[in-house]
Amino acid sequence: VLTLRQLSFKNIGRFSSEQSVDFSTLSDFIQVDAINKNTGGSSGSGKSTIFNALDYLLGLNDTPTTVLQSRLTKEPISVHGVFNWDGDVLEITRGGGKLKIYLEGKIIEGSNALAEEKIDEILGMPRDLFRKILHKRQKEGGFFLDFTPKKMHEFLIDCLNLSDMRKKAEIVDLRLKELLDNKTKIEGELTAIKYGLDSNENALQAIGEAPKPEISRETILELKANLESAEALDKVALDRYKDQMLALESEKPDIKMVPFDSSLGDRYRDERTALERKLATLFANEQDRLTSVKANLYTQQSEVQKLEFQVKSAENLKIEAMKLSEQLKKIRGCQCPTCLQQWSDDSAKRKEAEILSQLEDMKPAILGMASLKDMVKTRNEEITALKTQLIEIVHPEVPAINEAINNLSELVKDEQSKYDAHTEKHNTSNNALLQNFYNKQKDIQAKQSAAQNQIRGQMEIARSALQIAMQKLKSFDNEKNQYEKTFNSLSEYKKTLTKNVEECTFNLETTVKSIFMAEEMKKAIKMYVSYSFDGALEDIGSKATEIIRCIPNMSNATIHFESTKETKDGKVKEEVNAVIGMDGEVGIPIKSLSGGERSAVDLAVDLAVIDFIETKSAKGMNLFILDEPFTGLGTIEIEMALEVLKNSNTNKKIIIVDHNPEIKQMVQSRIVIERDGIESTIIEQSRN
Ligand SMILES: Nc1ncnc2c1ncn2[C@@H]1O[C@H](COP(=O)(O)OP(=O)(O)OP(=O)(O)O)[C@@H](O)[C@H]1O
Ligand SMILES: [Mg+2]
Repeated sequence: VLTLRQLSFKNIGRFSSEQSVDFSTLSDFIQVDAINKNTGGSSGSGKSTIFNALDYLLGLNDTPTTVLQSRLTKEPISVHGVFNWDGDVLEITRGGGKLKIYLEGKIIEGSNALAEEKIDEILGMPRDLFRKILHKRQKEGGFFLDFTPKKMHEFLIDCLNLSDMRKKAEIVDLRLKELLDNKTKIEGELTAIKYGLDSNENALQAIGEAPKPEISRETILELKANLESAEALDKVALDRYKDQMLALESEKPDIKMVPFDSSLGDRYRDERTALERKLATLFANEQDRLTSVKANLYTQQSEVQKLEFQVKSAENLKIEAMKLSEQLKKIRGCQCPTCLQQWSDDSAKRKEAEILSQLEDMKPAILGMASLKDMVKTRNEEITALKTQLIEIVHPEVPAINEAINNLSELVKDEQSKYDAHTEKHNTSNNALLQNFYNKQKDIQAKQSAAQNQIRGQMEIARSALQIAMQKLKSFDNEKNQYEKTFNSLSEYKKTLTKNVEECTFNLETTVKSIFMAEEMKKAIKMYVSYSFDGALEDIGSKATEIIRCIPNMSNATIHFESTKETKDGKVKEEVNAVIGMDGEVGIPIKSLSGGERSAVDLAVDLAVIDFIETKSAKGMNLFILDEPFTGLGTIEIEMALEVLKNSNTNKKIIIVDHNPEIKQMVQSRIVIERDGIESTIIEQSRN
């Protein structure tokens, strides 16, 4: 525990010269008062500044140093404190960006950071918490009751160092959740596997017993032997048939034919052919002659056509020449041949010469026209003569040749008839001989065919019986294979499933055990936490009640705290709620308290909490500074609050920063500041 003995400071706020307060000489109930000579009041003199300096020294201030640094001087802020720390002398100096700590005369070496760490060690709790239990700043309400229920809970958990436990509880919770999830998972797996096992069992039952063969291998051998003997019979029958046929072949009649003399017929045919050739030659000669006449005729006719065309052209020239002669006549009569105007100049002469030249050119053709006409006439006469030659001339030998041919044809026909009669005669006698042979052959064939049909029928029956038996055997083999495959895979699967069930069951048992253990652990932690927590609430509540009861009109009041609230949906709300009781009324809402009541309750609770924290942690400080705690309260209320403070029974110096003359009556020690102009100084530190 830290005890402040002396505090010195300079260059802060209005204090530019060094000030020093010796707390060790002051009693336990101290008023800090001031006189502002500028105003006659006390405001603005520097009362609060003293404790800002203390906060600054311990690193508890949340305002920047530049705000604290006095504007009256360029010299840096400097605060020095002499403490007693668990029996050791401790000195702390802070200013100009430096922090120095002397413990038992020895300086803490190293950086500012190291010194700050030392301060953390000395304070022994979070700095903001330390500040709250040391210094109730101006305008700050009761710190504990100002918290929300949730914050109160958190605050106490922190103070009781239960965070670790809670962290453990959270870990256990997580683990428990994990285990429960795992359990659900394993149970699901187990159900699935068991279901699988059932299905497997059903399947094994469904496939029943192994199939039995319908047909034995011996039967197959018998059937094969049957078929083979039928085949052997067939072969025997076939061989016998072949032997019989071969034997019959020797009985086949020898058939001979007397040759027919066809020389005469052949001669007639040759003669007839020679005559037919002659006839053809004659006919061909006549055809050649006719062709030559036709060709000549065609040549003559084309020649006539050409000549007639020339005659026509000459006639046209003649007409043209007559027209030109007409023109010539006109030109010679000095007249234009086209417009019939008088025309006798050089051009008329040229035209005349031109026409004359044209007429000269036409002349031979026109003169040749008469001879052309003669030629046409001669040719036409030739054509008429040729046309008379176009009639076919029959050769005088032709009728005789034709008759000879006819006669020869008759003779050939007679010879053919003789040949046919000869052949017919022979065939009839031979056929009679052959028919007997064929009948015997047919007889053997018919007998063979009947025997073979019977044997083949038997063979077919034996073969199909064997096939059916083989098919049955094959399908049995397939069925057996299929059965064995299914049976084996089901049995294999059954083994796997059974093993899985065992594993799962083991896992489930392990998990259930772990769950049990985790739940036990959770219960233990919860019990520990709630025991510590409820114990703390109990302590704080009874201490606060004890403090508040010193006020005469609150002598029957109770302050107690309830933790954890269950919400409508069954969730636990981690909160702390202060419950006030007064005059037989329980559960009075804090907000309904009067200003005085509220201040008294606030003070009582804060003092109880501070006491609790310090007892628990064996840390803290011997001061409780209250900066103008009674603002807005009347005399009675102030008295009530002071009563609370006086009776709080803390081993602390209680410092009340307040100008109120009421307080002066009630305290033993005073620190008085005087502000004159822009400067402030501490002018009094006294004990009554
Ligand atoms: N850095 C600074 N330099 C100079 N003056 C400052 C500085 N900071 C604050 N002051 C002034 O110091 C004076 C003292 O302030 P302080 O809060 O200590 O007065 P107080 O006595 O507590 O007054 P009140 O009763 O009104 O609370 C004020 O006039 C303020 O304006
Ligand atoms: Mg002030």
